[in-house]
This record gives sequence, C-alpha cells and structure tokens, in this order.
Amino acid sequence: MTRTLITGGLVITAAEEVHADVLIEGSRIAALATPGTQNWTADRVVDATGKYVIPGGVDAHTHMEMPFGGTFAADSFESGTRAAAWGGTTTIIDFAIQSPGQSLRTGLDAWHAKADGKCAIDYGFHMILSDVNESSLKEMDGLVAEGISSFKLFTAYPGVFYSDDGKILRAMQRAAGNGGLIMMHAENGLAIDVLVEQALARGETDPRYHGEVRKALLEAEATHRVIKLAQVAGAPVYVVHVSAREALAEIARARTEGLPVFGETCPQYLFLSTDNLAEPDFEGAKYVCSTPLRPREHQAALWRGLRTNDLQVVSTDHCPFCFTGQKELGRGDFSKIPNGLPGVENRMDLLHQAVVDGHISRRRWIEIACATPARMFGLYGRKGTIAPGADADVVIYDPAAEQTISAATHHMAVDYSAYEGRRIAGRVKTVLSRGEVVIDRGEFKGRPGHGVYLARSTSQYVR
Ligand code: URP
Ligand code: ZN
Ligand code: ZN
Ligand code: ZN
Repeated sequence: MTRTLITGGLVITAAEEVHADVLIEGSRIAALATPGTQNWTADRVVDATGKYVIPGGVDAHTHMEMPFGGTFAADSFESGTRAAAWGGTTTIIDFAIQSPGQSLRTGLDAWHAKADGKCAIDYGFHMILSDVNESSLKEMDGLVAEGISSFKLFTAYPGVFYSDDGKILRAMQRAAGNGGLIMMHAENGLAIDVLVEQALARGETDPRYHGEVRKALLEAEATHRVIKLAQVAGAPVYVVHVSAREALAEIARARTEGLPVFGETCPQYLFLSTDNLAEPDFEGAKYVCSTPLRPREHQAALWRGLRTNDLQVVSTDHCPFCFTGQKELGRGDFSKIPNGLPGVENRMDLLHQAVVDGHISRRRWIEIACATPARMFGLYGRKGTIAPGADADVVIYDPAAEQTISAATHHMAVDYSAYEGRRIAGRVKTVLSRGEVVIDRGEFKGRPGHGVYLARSTSQYVR
C-alpha cells in the first residue's frame, strides 16, 4: 500500500482549522497529527507549508452530455470530470434521466453506460423523474436501496421534464416512505410558457428576455407550492438552483417553521446577473440558464442565505453549451437557446474568492462545497471531510497564488467562460483522488476510468 504524507498545511474542514500532517495509506486517510510529532515514513511526501489542505469538492449538480433543446451538453463524463479535478472537485453527482414512457432502469442504465470507465474522479447519480406512474413509483424504492437516493422533479419545462402537482405529490409521498430525497426545479413553467409566447409575439427575441419572462415571482410561487406539497406528503424537499430572493424567502420561512426544507444555489447566481444576459451581439446567450440570472440585488440575499444556513449547498448545475453552434440555435428566438452554464471547474475557486471578499468564512467554504453536499446526498464519511477512514480525496490549495479565469486556459469542453477575465485569489496546487495524484502543479496526472461509481446512502442531513 502506498503511503503518502502531506506535511505542514492548514487542514480545513467544516468543523475546524488545524495545522496538521496527514497520513494516507492506499486510498484512505489513516491519521492526522500535530506537525512533526510522529516519525511517519512514506513513499511520497507532499510539502503543504503555507497551503490549505482541504477535502476534495463535492459538486452535487452536474449534467454531463445532457440532451437539451435538440443538442447535448458539451462536456462528456471524461472531459467534465477531468475539468472538475483541475478545479479541486473530486466527486460529482450527475442526473440520470428517465424519458417519458421509459422505466427508471432504462434511463439509469443509459447514464451508467455513458460514465462507466470514463471518469477521472468518483461519481454518483440522482434520477430525474419525467414520468411518474405506478411502476416508476415502485422503481423508486429499489433505486434508493441500490444507491440512487435522490430524485429530481420539475414544475418547469412543460412537455419535457414537467410534472403536475399530483405527480409531484405522489413522488413525495413515495420518498416519505422509502427515505429518498426529492429535489425540485421550482419555476411555474406553464405561466412562463405564456409569457414566452407573448414576448416573442412582441418581437422580444434577445437573450435578455429569457430573464424577463422567467420571473422571480414565478420561482417564488413554485417554491412555495413544492414546500406545501412536501409538507402534505410529510417529506423533506431540496430546492435546486435557487436564484431569486423571493424564492429564498419562501425557503427561509419554511425553515423558521421547522420544516425539513433545504436549498442550493450556484456560483452563477452569486457572481453574475441580468447585466450579463443583456450583453450585446447575442453574447447574452452565454448566460442563459434556468432558473435565470437575476438583477444584482438578489446576490446579497443569496450570500446572506449561505451564511444563515437557509441555503446549505453550492453546486454548479454544470450544463455547458458552446456559443458557436449550440447557444446560437436561439438567434432570433431566446426560447431556443439551450439552457445551462459551464462551471464545474470554477466553483471551488469562486467560493474561495468569496472567502477573500468576506462573504463566507473558510470553514463555511468547505461546508457548502464539500461537507454538506456529501451529507445531503449520503456520501459523508467517505467524502466531504479529512478524517481517518475517509477516502483520500484531498486538495492542496494555495491561497497566495493568483489566476485569471479564461476559456483560453480552462479544461471544460466549451468555447467560452462565463467568468472570462475574473481574477481569483487562490489556486489548486495538488489534487488526490482516493490517494492517487490527479492534478499536480499544473499537470493532469489522472486517467479516465480511475473514478468509480458511488452508491449513496439516504441523506445524512435531512431526517
Ligand atoms: O439551465 C439549466 N439549469 N440547465 C440544466 C437543466 C436544469 O434545469 O437543471
Ligand atoms: Zn433544473
Ligand atoms: Zn409563500
Ligand atoms: Zn440542473
């Protein structure tokens, strides 16, 4: 068994910050000790003096190769997980999709086939329910038992992923019984479709109208509704990609009442705004995602929610489409722009910048990006922390390094960066995945197929 020793760094977990040496045996963390107090021998010694030693990031919301609007998200499991590793993320949870008329099993098998043998880092799956019926409800129980313990439903995208309130209630009732966690994309898709039609009829076709028709009020309404449905079902609910302060207020109110309601936001809502959607020459299309970017004023509410724990997780919703040939499908009709932004490589850095800017503490950075996503989705203990027995998914992070985010240097398979030109204080130096070096000082040392599929337990956070 290879023994790796990481010496002299500041180990940061959600719980504490401590100067410690970290001993890794094979794929797991064996021990932590006060620097220099043990006579540990190792095959490989990594000097982390002046650096942070943090758990690998857990990105609980990605869409590699996702079919959307007649095209596919540009990152494969191979390129997307490699890019994740470059950015200090060592686990992703992607969304397998049940198409209407299909069983959950058929959808899940298809996603296993896409990912198997391709990933540079470990991965799990949530399941998107597009067709709630007697047999798919029964299948949910089996999936929870085999490690797919979370299910996403949509009040948005009528005719594609949309489920009506009755179907959502049934899925929530089933989850209340089998321990699954329902994840909700909360926007009133039926009302949005009316506003889309009316906007296009007025000749309002530019990307910025995507943000105008997908109103904050319609995110708040759907958020309120899914919270009430979950309450009726006696189930917890996790609201994905919260972008509107009005929606966050619904979550905060429910939590004040003591309800098991949880929320996630994404870097794009914290760092970007409708100003980006309004960029001229169709450049705004680069920022089309759903829920949409909001006016800048919403950002302060989201940062506050992350500090007060009304929001528990920051995931990327990584769903990249190239500007050329993909985003361009919506020239002349914003409703045909494929929805989604790249970001799996940028999340840990952007959130470190948030630490530097004073929005969150260092421990909160690790909590929202590593520990809580692991707990929320049944991976904690193995993932999300640095402790004896945990997988040796470890990032050596240099807080003194500087970088500028750019499509010219990123590793995602997409021809633009949503954060082009943004200066970041801090940079990933070394990344270990289960004890193996994946990134080291600007070089990718990993391989497709190193990453293994993770069967997850039920949530360790919500019940
Ligand atoms: O625009 C987005 N978010 N695309 C991915 C699909 C989803 O709704 O998460
Ligand atoms: Zn969604
Ligand atoms: Zn309400
Ligand atoms: Zn998504």
